[in-house]
Amino acid sequence: MTNNYIPVKIAGVGYSLPETVITNDDLTKLYDTSDEWIYSRTGIKERRLVSGDEDAIDLGLVAAENALKKSGIKPEELDLIIAASSAPPQLYPAIACHIQSRLGIETDIPAFDITAACSGLIYGMHVAKGFINSGIYKNILIVATDNNSRYLDWSDRGTSILFGDGAGAMVLTAAEDGVDDILYIDIKAKGSIGELIYKDNVGQNCPLVEPCSEHDGFIHMNGRGVYTFVAKILPKYVEDLLEHAGMKAEDIDYLIPHQANLRIIQAVQERLGYSDDKVVTNIKYYGNTSAASIPIALAESVEKGNVKLDTTAILCGFGAGMTWGGAIVRLREGIC
Ligand code: COA
Repeated sequence: MTNNYIPVKIAGVGYSLPETVITNDDLTKLYDTSDEWIYSRTGIKERRLVSGDEDAIDLGLVAAENALKKSGIKPEELDLIIAASSAPPQLYPAIACHIQSRLGIETDIPAFDITAACSGLIYGMHVAKGFINSGIYKNILIVATDNNSRYLDWSDRGTSILFGDGAGAMVLTAAEDGVDDILYIDIKAKGSIGELIYKDNVGQNCPLVEPCSEHDGFIHMNGRGVYTFVAKILPKYVEDLLEHAGMKAEDIDYLIPHQANLRIIQAVQERLGYSDDKVVTNIKYYGNTSAASIPIALAESVEKGNVKLDTTAILCGFGAGMTWGGAIVRLREGIC
């Protein structure tokens, strides 16, 4: 750490969900499944899905506005926008460019997307932290948003039961009081097992050359493979995060994990020895909202009074790539 190191304040967190609810019972109209099968294996009862032309950009805009309002930072005071999405509605312009435009920002601040799937928020936080710590940018908006429901094969009951749509946003700024809210952060990837979850872009070669293989644009997942890998690495990884931060499980107030599968969350909870009131879960109502799941879980649990502020939390996520990451953070009063 140099003398010029600028600490980071988490200034605001917001979220947004589409209104349309699809229950497990609704899914029985699409294929042979049951509420009991889905709930017992995943912890999911229902999910929110985009409808009509609504998409991740619309959801992301509302989440961004909510996070900015909480932060007290005006859109025109932002220095950078980072959007994190597993599969953006358009590859370009980036979601972040759309958000810049729809927030009415005319100062030409940089805006770009990162693809780290469900680890997107943590990846975005790490990138933003670097810019703030080094003094390059002061006020950064991260928007984590996904409408995976549009890329699911709705005849594939192994995959389409899991995902829901939603958006979360976080505003990070230089901490003028010198108090760092990101106590420790880490991100990881293992590209060699990337085939566990993938989504191809659909395209074709120039007609003058040999055609390429055909691909669909659906999300493909080896559910059992993902489960086995994550259940093996994540509990130990979270324990290692604490060790690197020089902290113990009992020093932290809450675990706010990516909501992909209740049994995976419970494996981490067990490892940390946390009671249920220390662990945020909302997968029952929203399924896996990808990059958005951690900020939705954080902001919604504060709104409901299940998480108190002026506390500390472990945020951790994993997703396609495979990617994973975690952050130990301070949750200040008023951030959501
Ligand atoms: N309803 C009823 N039966 C289903 C079903 C459904 N929705 N989905 C799969 N099945 C069937 C399969 O066809 C299979 O039947 P078979 O044994 O006759 O072939 C059987 O159930 C077991 O399938 P499998 O895919 O091995 O199930 P599973 O126990 O691994 O559970 C998941 C599937 C997806 C719920 C589970 O693997 C999981 O949650 N994985 C983690 C995925 C994840 O978190 N992804 C996101 C990462 S960010």
